[in-house]
Amino acid sequence: MDWHARFLQQANWTSELRTYLFQRTGLANAGRVLEVGCGTGAILSSIRTKTLHGLDLRFASLMEARVHAPAATLTCGDAVRLPYADGSFDITFCHFLLLWVKDPLQALSEMKRITVPDGHILALAEPDYDARVDKPTELSALGRWQAESLRRQGADPSLGGRLADLFYRAGIELVETGAIAGRADEAFTSEEWELEWTVLEHDLAGVVSLEEVQRMKELDAGARARGERILHVPTYFAWGRA
Ligand SMILES: C[S@@+](CC[C@H](N)C(=O)[O-])C[C@H]1O[C@@H](n2cnc3c(N)ncnc32)[C@H](O)[C@@H]1O
Repeated sequence: MDWHARFLQQANWTSELRTYLFQRTGLANAGRVLEVGCGTGAILSSIRTKTLHGLDLRFASLMEARVHAPAATLTCGDAVRLPYADGSFDITFCHFLLLWVKDPLQALSEMKRITVPDGHILALAEPDYDARVDKPTELSALGRWQAESLRRQGADPSLGGRLADLFYRAGIELVETGAIAGRADEAFTSEEWELEWTVLEHDLAGVVSLEEVQRMKELDAGARARGERILHVPTYFAWGRA
C-alpha cells in the first residue's frame, strides 16, 4: 500500500478548504506553523511559510516526510504530549488526525497550549464514517464494514460529528466549523478508483471475506459505469483561536 499516494489523494479533497483557511489565518506570513500528525508530508510539502514544523508518532513516516517536505523541521512525538513549550506556534493544525488519537480532547488541549494566545488552531478534516452514504443500496454494507474496520484499527470513525464539541471542551474559541464541500457523485479517475479500492481491500481484510469484497468491487464498477454510484463520507473541519 502506497500511503503517500493515499495521503496526496486525501489532500486533494481538502485543497480548496486549505486555500481558504490558510488565507484567512495569514499562514503565508505566519512566523511558526506546526502540523500535528504530519504523516509522510503530503500537506507540509504544499506549504510555503517562514518556519514550518511537523510532528508524527511514526518515525518511518517522518523519514518519508523528510524527502517530500525538506524545508520542515520534523519531530517524532505524541499528539497527546506535544514536546513544545507553551505558545511556541502561531498556527497549529492537523489533517485526518484526531480520529486516530486515543484521547482527541487531550490532543486539542495540547494544540491550544502550544499555540500563542489568540493564535489559530485548525482541524482540517475529520470524517464521520458512520454517516457514509453508499448508493445503490446493495453497496450500503461497505460503509458499515469500513467503520467496523477503523474501530478495530483503534480509530474513532465518527469523530467528525463531534469535532466542534471537542473544540469547545478544549477551551478553543470556535471561529468557523462545518462540513467540507464535496460532490457525492464526483467521478473518480480509474487511478483514483483503484487507489480507493486498494484502501478498502486493506481495511476490509479480516472484517469480511475476500469474495464478498470482490463482489462489492464488481457492483461498484457496474454502478459507476451506469452513472448510478454515489459515495459520500461527511467530513468536518473546525477553525478556532487559542
Ligand atoms: C491519516 S494519517 C494523515 C497524515 C497527514 N496529516 C496527511 O493528511 O497526509 C494520520 C497520521 O497521524 C499519525 N498519528 C496517529 N496518532 C498519532 C499521535 N497520537 N500522535 C502523533 N501522530 C499520530 C499517524 O502516524 C499518521 O501519520
